[in-house]
Amino acid sequence: MKGIILAGGSGTRLHPMTLAASKQLLPVYDKPMVYYPLGTLILAGIRDIMLISTPHDLPMFRRLLGDGSQFGVTLTYAEQPRPDGIAQAFVIAADWIGGQPCALALGDNIVFGAGIPEQLQAASKRAETGLATIFGYRVGDPERYGVAEFDAQDRVLSLEEKPAHPKSDWAVIGLYFYDARVTDMARALVPSARGELEITDLNKAYLADGTLASERFGRGCAWFDAGTPASLLQAAQFVQTVQDRQSVQVGCPEEIAFRMGFIDAEALRTQARALGKTSYGKYLADLADGRHA
Ligand code: G1P
Repeated sequence: MKGIILAGGSGTRLHPMTLAASKQLLPVYDKPMVYYPLGTLILAGIRDIMLISTPHDLPMFRRLLGDGSQFGVTLTYAEQPRPDGIAQAFVIAADWIGGQPCALALGDNIVFGAGIPEQLQAASKRAETGLATIFGYRVGDPERYGVAEFDAQDRVLSLEEKPAHPKSDWAVIGLYFYDARVTDMARALVPSARGELEITDLNKAYLADGTLASERFGRGCAWFDAGTPASLLQAAQFVQTVQDRQSVQVGCPEEIAFRMGFIDAEALRTQARALGKTSYGKYLADLADGRHA
């Protein structure tokens, strides 16, 4: 299974913070935003990852993440020249995907909570058997998001992108798992009224085909899209609260890779040395020494 991190867009809702800097490189407490979706894909067992960003921002992601070997993954980079929609990622990445199942994580989405690893792995298995999976999270402001309506058996009844009158409180988060048909399905999409290839239209195509599954995140889970000043701060405060209280990291790709068996203790120590005396570096060194087990 392959995975894409889409870290494009101009972050207009975060201006002036993102006038000169990429949104997905802004800090969420103690690490760059893009570390969180990277950790999510690694947690799903994905080791072949493409990062897509604007021509202007891509070199900075490359500088930050390199070839991915420090996280036990292979990172490839591609440009999205214009913000022509989330689903365009699959058209851009088509040759690289090479007819395999592929997940997509938006570069500003942060998920955390018990049960999520199992749900990611279930979605990944489903993708191998011809099914797509979306994830739902109950929110107080569904009109800001893609919205899913479910029946009593958890089946998706309808999907709408930023509806004025949402049919439910269930936002569709920016994490999607698709089967091997995804590039063909994405190529068949037509741009929406705002001129974008919409991820919701891709999900609707799977829904119409009868091959869209869903997972809902429970009350004990957290989801943030750090796309506004308020949600960026909330995400940072959440991460700080959990990390300080429990002395564990939230969204640390090296730790997740270590626990997944993608890197060994020596690789953790190498990363720890590179990060010097920061609390992040010390955490990695402690992990390598068997603490935080
Ligand atoms: C996008 C999607 C939307 C989804 C959201 C999650 O919206 O179009 O369906 O709910 O990401 O973060 P955007 O944040 O690009 O407006």
